[in-house]
Amino acid sequence: LDLVTATENACARHHNDPAALLEILHDLQEEVGHVPQVILPTIAKALNLSRAEVHGVVSFYHDFHETAGGTVRVQVCRAEACQSMGALDLIERICRRHGVTLGETSADGGITIEPVYCLGNCALSPAAMVNGRPVGRVTEERLDRAIREARA
Ligand code: FES
Repeated sequence: LDLVTATENACARHHNDPAALLEILHDLQEEVGHVPQVILPTIAKALNLSRAEVHGVVSFYHDFHETAGGTVRVQVCRAEACQSMGALDLIERICRRHGVTLGETSADGGITIEPVYCLGNCALSPAAMVNGRPVGRVTEERLDRAIREARA
């Protein structure tokens, strides 16, 4: 599914009318299953609204899920102990590997990578959590395995 096209179609169905923003978001929620951040600029452009206006509506109405149900949530610690074990470098590499910006959900809704501050697992730094499951002494390979398991 091409998210941008689906979004443009939904806006066009409502004649790109900014007053129809809520209905458009509902349509997308139904079609795509969620309202990912990445489509907000497309909606803003079609309806001639600012991104902040669209974002405001999405975050105000909690029924619009910004991440899909199947999103794997990866939290990587960037507090001191983990930093000293190369956490910052690791975060950069895994974001690049998955094509996501830190804190945002990937375009396909498959993964979110978030920075966190101390997971209480400093003894096994660098530390991460994948869908709430702790992963210690994180390497790209170990993290990939945990992500695959979370999806299985
Ligand atoms: Fe990373 Fe404590 S500093 S888990």
